[in-house]
Amino acid sequence: MDPYIEKVRTINEKLDASPLAHVHSYGCQLNVTDGEKLKGLLSKMGYGFTDVPEEADLVVLNTCAVRENAEDRVFGNLGFLKHYKEMKKDMIICISGCMTEQKNVVEKIRSSYKYVDIVIGTNAFDRFPGYVHEVLSGRKHVYDESGPGTGVSEGNEQIRSSSFKASVPIMYGCNNFCTYCIVPYVRGRERSRKAEDILDEVRGLVADGYREIMLLGQNVNSYGNDLEDGIKFPELLRRINAIEGDFIIRFMSSHPKDAGKDLIDALADCEKAGHFLHLPVQSGSNSVLERMNRRYTAEKYLEIIDYAKSRCPDFTFSTDILIGFPDETDEEFEDTLKLIEKVRYSNIYSFIYSKRTGTKAALLEDRTPYSAKQERMQKLLELQRRITTEDYRKYIGKTLKVLVDGPGKGGEGTLTGKSSEFIIVNFKGDSSLTGQFVNVKITAARNWAVEGEQV
Ligand code: 5AD
Ligand code: SF4
Repeated sequence: MDPYIEKVRTINEKLDASPLAHVHSYGCQLNVTDGEKLKGLLSKMGYGFTDVPEEADLVVLNTCAVRENAEDRVFGNLGFLKHYKEMKKDMIICISGCMTEQKNVVEKIRSSYKYVDIVIGTNAFDRFPGYVHEVLSGRKHVYDESGPGTGVSEGNEQIRSSSFKASVPIMYGCNNFCTYCIVPYVRGRERSRKAEDILDEVRGLVADGYREIMLLGQNVNSYGNDLEDGIKFPELLRRINAIEGDFIIRFMSSHPKDAGKDLIDALADCEKAGHFLHLPVQSGSNSVLERMNRRYTAEKYLEIIDYAKSRCPDFTFSTDILIGFPDETDEEFEDTLKLIEKVRYSNIYSFIYSKRTGTKAALLEDRTPYSAKQERMQKLLELQRRITTEDYRKYIGKTLKVLVDGPGKGGEGTLTGKSSEFIIVNFKGDSSLTGQFVNVKITAARNWAVEGEQV
């Protein structure tokens, strides 16, 4: 064990009450997982946890850099923390995650947010206890600017927020350099965890009663490209599927350029795989896809969707759409709407393009006014609402297997969960069913959800 974990623990044990930490993660599920690992380390160092930042002795803002508004929220919250720290002088403030891998952000913190004690990048778990120890021993600031790292650090226990849904990173980083995206710069190159480590973790989680295993990676389809054991993602899926137990396998995200028939065949064969595929298309226009460096065409994308529809007829699909990439024209955007009509997604995550310093797209001229991008977003949402409303009706009369998330919004006795197809299902039932699979017969379709009765 890291000797600094012991050292911090010894300091904390001398206090009258055990100190409290508050960890807030922004952004994607990979980042949430990192936050859970930081919590695991903090717990070993003797910290308890609080949801209330002003009560905490140590606050971690585990940041996201994918869009500007995520960064703005962090700087906003840092403003609040200054106020809390004025009242509680010993409060330790730590900024971790993707934002800290950008030189301009670290400079801004250094010059304008001097009350931040620790700045630590992604993949730096092994250095975190040492930094907490340094600050507790009187050092004012620790800025770790060693870059996103190249390794895979195993053995970091997580304090998971759910007792039945678990995220399992299978790889880190990204090699794709889509021209709009900051991820390759802040998370580094692709590196895969060993299949045996992943399988051991999943076996342990299933034995502990976890019912949903979410495999995570920036592009799970390139899993194993950097390993010598030859296991690629479809085979990993098959091996996880072979683990005994009642659980569902999900994964995020797949890059369409690497999503082949072997992936779809594995999904069709693995009875534990959710009947759902998230395949981010970003745009339906070939010229925009080329400017984005996505390395597939709309036709190629539709081919893989068509193959998936033929092999897995009850699957649903979701996607990410980037609206207003520099100089996207109305015609190019219309191509995106046409593609959406063809695929008929069950859900779309749409984002207005946000310029990221350091990426290739940041150098492009963008003559489209922001108001036009907002109008495009509205159009897209209206189309998607129509498709969802039409398509969700076909579930009426069918029975879906639902993993119950917990109490629903309809007051006492209502539950909500997600079906294998990743559709929100609301129904009546006792909250003791939380975390269990339940069969629900669908009776009605609502906006973005269906309703039913337990059978
Ligand atoms: N601006 C807006 N959205 C972005 N995404 C990635 N980079 C940007 C950016 N610069 C979106 C993409 C990706 C999702 C996770 O975030 O759609 O699939
Ligand atoms: Fe970003 Fe593209 Fe990598 Fe996804 S595949 S993380 S969008 S660079």
